[in-house]
Order: sequence, then C-alpha cells, then structure tokens
Amino acid sequence: MEQRLLDLPEDSVVILDFGSQYGHLIARRVRELGVYCWVLPPDTPLAEIRRHRPKGVILSGGPASVYDPGAPRCDPALWSAGLPVLGICYGMQLMVQALGGRVERAERREYGPARLRIQRPGELFAGLGAETGVWMSHGDSVERLPAGFRVLASTPNTPFAAVCDDSGRLFGVQFHPEVSHTERGRDILANFLFRICGCRPTWNMGDFIERAEAAIRRRVGEGRALCALSGGVDSAVAALLVHRAIGDRLTCVFVDTGLLRAGEVEEVRRAFGEELGIPLVVVDARQRFLQALRGVTDPEAKRKVVGETFIRVFEEEARRLEQRLGRIDFLVQGTTYPDVIESGTGGASTIKTHHNVGGLPPDMSFDLLEPIRDLFKDEVREVGRRLGLPAAIVDRQPFPGPGLAIRITGEVTEERLAIVREADRIVREEVERAGLTRSLWQAFAVLTSTRTVGVMGDSRSYGYAVAVRAVTSRDGMTADWARLPYEVLERIAIRIGNEVQGVNRVVYDITPKPPATIEWE
Ligand code: XMP
Repeated sequence: MEQRLLDLPEDSVVILDFGSQYGHLIARRVRELGVYCWVLPPDTPLAEIRRHRPKGVILSGGPASVYDPGAPRCDPALWSAGLPVLGICYGMQLMVQALGGRVERAERREYGPARLRIQRPGELFAGLGAETGVWMSHGDSVERLPAGFRVLASTPNTPFAAVCDDSGRLFGVQFHPEVSHTERGRDILANFLFRICGCRPTWNMGDFIERAEAAIRRRVGEGRALCALSGGVDSAVAALLVHRAIGDRLTCVFVDTGLLRAGEVEEVRRAFGEELGIPLVVVDARQRFLQALRGVTDPEAKRKVVGETFIRVFEEEARRLEQRLGRIDFLVQGTTYPDVIESGTGGASTIKTHHNVGGLPPDMSFDLLEPIRDLFKDEVREVGRRLGLPAAIVDRQPFPGPGLAIRITGEVTEERLAIVREADRIVREEVERAGLTRSLWQAFAVLTSTRTVGVMGDSRSYGYAVAVRAVTSRDGMTADWARLPYEVLERIAIRIGNEVQGVNRVVYDITPKPPATIEWE
C-alpha cells in the first residue's frame, strides 16, 4: 500500500483469491465492467480489507475442499461486516459451511455446461429471465443451507446453485459467472457490482492516464528518472506514462545485448527515439555479452551471466548519465498487477528480477517508480494504444530477459546467434502472415546442438536441426502446443531450409507444459 502512486479509487471491490484457476479472470471481468478491484490473499484480516474501502467482496473458487486440513479460509468477521459478499464455487461453500450449513464431498466432479433455472431473480439475477446456461466446475456441493438462507436458482444436478441470505448481502453461486461459457455471467457480475454493492463504473484507461500523469508529476517533482526498456510492452508503457508526466527529465536506456530478435533494436530506436521523441540511449554491449557467455553451456549459468552483465552495463550507463545530467532520483519499473499479486503481499514492491535490474550496488539508490502496478496486461496494452505506442510493441509476444541465449542449446556464439535470429524471424513472419500472432502466446525458433545429415543438390550436408515452438497459454504457467496449420509449418520449414545457412532440418515441438517448459532452457 505504501508504494501506491495513485489515490484509492472511490468505487472498488476486493477479491479474495482462494487459488482458483479463474482467479485473475474474475478481476479482469470486474475491471472490464469499469470497477476497480484488488486481489488479496484469502486470509486477509477484515481490518486490512476495510483499508481498501471496498463496496463489496468477492470470494473466488479454489482447488481445495472446505474439509481439507489447512483449507484456506477468510476472516470469519467478514460474514457480519455488513459488506455485500459474493462467494463463487469454493467461496460459496466456505460461506455456507462457516454459517452452519453443510457441504458434502460429491462422488463425481461436475464439470461443464448446465441449465440454471432461476426461481427468485432478486437483485443478482435481475433481467435474466427464467433460464440460462452456466458453467460448473466443482467437486463438493452444498447439501443444507444455513439458517436464514434461501435458494435463488438451481440446475438439474445442483439444487443449491445460487443462494442468498435474508439480509440480501451474502450471495453464493456454485457456477462460474466469470468464464465466457456462462452465458449471462457478465450481467450477473454487473448486478452484483452495481445493484448490490452500489458501485459506479468509474474505472477506465482514459481517466487512469490522467490520474497517473498527475500522480507521477507530484511524486517526481523536479527530479529525474531513468527507465531500462526491455523491448516489451510493460516497460514501454511505463516509460510513456512517465514521459508524459515529466517530459525529458526521463531518460530511457536500451541495452543491445546482441541476444535480441531481428529488427528489435531498430524498432525501439524508431518508436521511442524518433516517433515518440523520448530521450533514448542505446548501449551497444554485444561484444561484452558474447565474451561473458563464451564457453558457458549450462542454462542456469547462462541466465546468471546475462543477468549480471546486464546489471553492470546498466550501472555504468546510469553513472555516465548522472555525470552528464545530474542526479537521477527514480528508476521506472514496468511492474504490473500480476507481479504484485504474485509477490503475495498485495502491496510489497519487488524488483522484477527478469528485468535484470535487481542487483544494482547500494550506492546507486534510486526510488522505484511503478506507474502500471495497478494494471493487468490487457489494461497495459490499452494504455499503450491510447498513448500512441506502435502496434508492433503493444501486441508483442513475451520475450525472455536472457533472450536468444536460452534459445540456443549449448554454447552461444556469434554464428549460432545469427542462425537462430534468422530462423526466428521466419517463424514470426509466417505466423504473422497467417494472421495467427494474436492467437498464440509465443511462436519462435530454437537452435538445437544436434547436427544431422541432409542432402542438398548432389552433396551431403551436415547441419543443425532447428526446432519450431508455438504455444497457446493463458498466463505462461501452463501451455499447450499450437495446432498450426500444416501449410504454415510447411512454409516455415521450406524457408528455414532455403534461407538459413547451416540448417538442414526443422522439427516441430509438440510438448505441452508441463512436462516441458515453453523455453528450451
Ligand atoms: P517457461 O520456459 O518457464 O516460460 O515455460 C514461461 C514464460 O516466461 C518467459 N520466460 C522468461 N521471461 N525472463 C523473462 O522475462 C526469463 O528469464 C524468462 N524465462 C522464461 C517465457 O518466454 C515464457 O513466456
């Protein structure tokens, strides 16, 4: 909380996250409806919840059973706090159990679509009609309601599919209103937010930009700020917001590690330096990274070498800039809300280690400026679009901090970097040409250390095998290989074979995560 840049939004709700696979989805739906929300750990004390001044609380689903030892619980004071509460799935079962009802382990999980019959629409189902399709995903079920509760709706398998207490403040739904398979899920959440909690839809990116700008100006005063651009959307949008607020007192540094994708340095130089007019220093550190990586083959060792080299290069550049410009007070970080949630504290600030600026020496004491720490990725993208960031950067797929170094198995050399960079360019071009870029989490090439026999013209070749990796994913934590059309795969294979020197074989990686990771190293 102390790290907050912006004032608390007037109308917000708190989501207690019980570990649901759909946890972040609830938050995104609520935000899309124009209401700000916080995602807090399940056991957050009521006093801490109140500090956020929410107009209501949503309890997410979760993988646990309320009967498991150590199952996550919320502060029992919440039930009588007078705040509207909507329990979803596990959240509903917790509410029912805590207030004296009974939850039973079901023999079979209920998973999939179901028809919801609405007996009492009340506020929650206002405007929905008598029947609608919902999405179920639960093991346990409510068997008996606590005193003072009644049924609002049921499905053929689930008599207590939606319930409410007599005060009209505590609601529970067994289905998932946040997933798109629940036909009127958005309306149900809207009813909770607007009719029951009394929120107004005050959260939108236009206002956010205005408020962020004013807040950054207040915080930085006459000071200076420095931002390490990574080429990705988060640091770019963070830099744009700060530049809007303090103009040329922000300097951006982009380190050319030589481990970047084809065209990336030029793109950043063009977008930031030329089109957006932001002071930009591009540091050519290619040789330095190559030297540091010489002979290093272990994946973790590579990451470490890249991270440490990055810090040293950035530090030297920062000192140079301070000599030229005077003291630099702030370091801009592209921390986003999922990073904040993952840090587990709901508020503490952690430097993104994969941005590789976590290890600056203690005498380089910058204050952190994190202008997008309240935003989800889609919100970051929208802010970027509104601020004129080119689509190529706004819609960019994730790219790991250690760059191409972890997409080459074995030693990183100039020659091998050139091969993987070319192959990667072809993969991305063909995926883009097929209109598939946005539907994929990532698509890229990996240079394996395997060399195989091939034939070209009349002669035998002995070249590298390149692996193509394309995955779909919601958050990078799990992933599935993308069913790319054969024609796209074919074009990729032919072009790599023809255009990339030293490669005579292309294979497609069809492993999901788990057991594999998305990157090869
Ligand atoms: P893995 O390979 O662990 O990757 O399945 C999951 C997602 O994270 C990205 N990734 C990284 N991003 N620094 C980053 O900024 C890293 O060191 C790093 N390693 C993996 C990866 O590209 C994928 O999207």
